[in-house]
Amino acid sequence: MNEHHNPAGSGSKMQGGQMQISAISKYFGIGPLRKQIINDCTFTLESGKLTVLIGPSGCGKTTLINLLAGYETPDSGTITVDGSPIKGPGKDRLVVFQETALFPWMTTLQNVVYGPMVRGEKDKKELEDEAMHLLHKVGLAEFRDKYPLQLSGGMQRRCELVRALINRPKIMMMDEPFRGLDAMTRELMQEYYVRLFEENHLTNLFITSELEEAIFLADRLIILTNRPASARTVIEIDLPRPRDFKILVTKEYLHYKQNALEILHEEAMKAFSVGSGAAVADFLEAYSEVKAK
Ligand SMILES: Nc1ncnc2c1ncn2[C@@H]1O[C@H](COP(=O)(O)OP(=O)(O)O)[C@@H](O)[C@H]1O
Ligand SMILES: [Mg+2]
Repeated sequence: MNEHHNPAGSGSKMQGGQMQISAISKYFGIGPLRKQIINDCTFTLESGKLTVLIGPSGCGKTTLINLLAGYETPDSGTITVDGSPIKGPGKDRLVVFQETALFPWMTTLQNVVYGPMVRGEKDKKELEDEAMHLLHKVGLAEFRDKYPLQLSGGMQRRCELVRALINRPKIMMMDEPFRGLDAMTRELMQEYYVRLFEENHLTNLFITSELEEAIFLADRLIILTNRPASARTVIEIDLPRPRDFKILVTKEYLHYKQNALEILHEEAMKAFSVGSGAAVADFLEAYSEVKAK
């Protein structure tokens, strides 16, 4: 269904990148301070699809992405990529976090080509051409020679996105990458991101606590339970691609939103009943506005 072409010059389409998360659990702390963060969590990142995980702040999303990236190990359960268990971090799985990590002393272009360059993977010209293609895609071509501090926050995030993508990871993982940006910048970021995905069709995992963003981006939306987090519901988002913001007023979109909101609301109420006050405050802040619409 997803018709796509790949003008990025990568030649062959990226294969594989299927990730299976099976019954993972994770605890932090010891003795009486020990608490469970992830509980028997199972889901699949389907090859070439954009999977969005949504859950309230504090529910364990970053912990989950750290487990998938291999920075942390689960206490039980397994994580495989194309059938092979992961053994720590690997360059097949790259994560973009919300904190910027660009080198301040390098220009946009230098930042982007730095990784593959030090690994000596391709010649400079080839890398720069690819970098420029991607920078163009995210509206940064004319900022190639600027330093990070000369860029706006949104531009820095786009630069980071490109810096990750140039490595052509099998799996791209994004941990609330647009959090903290103002609403307009955020919308712009979502559009750039969705364009890149529609071009490269890498397996993508995108984590957010914003429902509108989640549905706008997702092929598959996975709703997490409150802490300890597990995958509660998977909703296949069958909205056409390429996507633009016009879909936000279609009845199909509103149907998905209503459906997801009901589930999120139930989760919020559950948290309320077990006295997780902070989580509920976040929940209401994050969703009540949308709910009221
Ligand atoms: N290394 C750690 N040690 C102890 N507790 C942790 C650690 N990392 C995260 N936590 C706890 O795990 C819970 C979930 O955190 P996190 O995964 O960052 O949630 P989210 O990303 O959904 O906001 C929080 O209560 C947090 O305090
Ligand atoms: Mg987090």
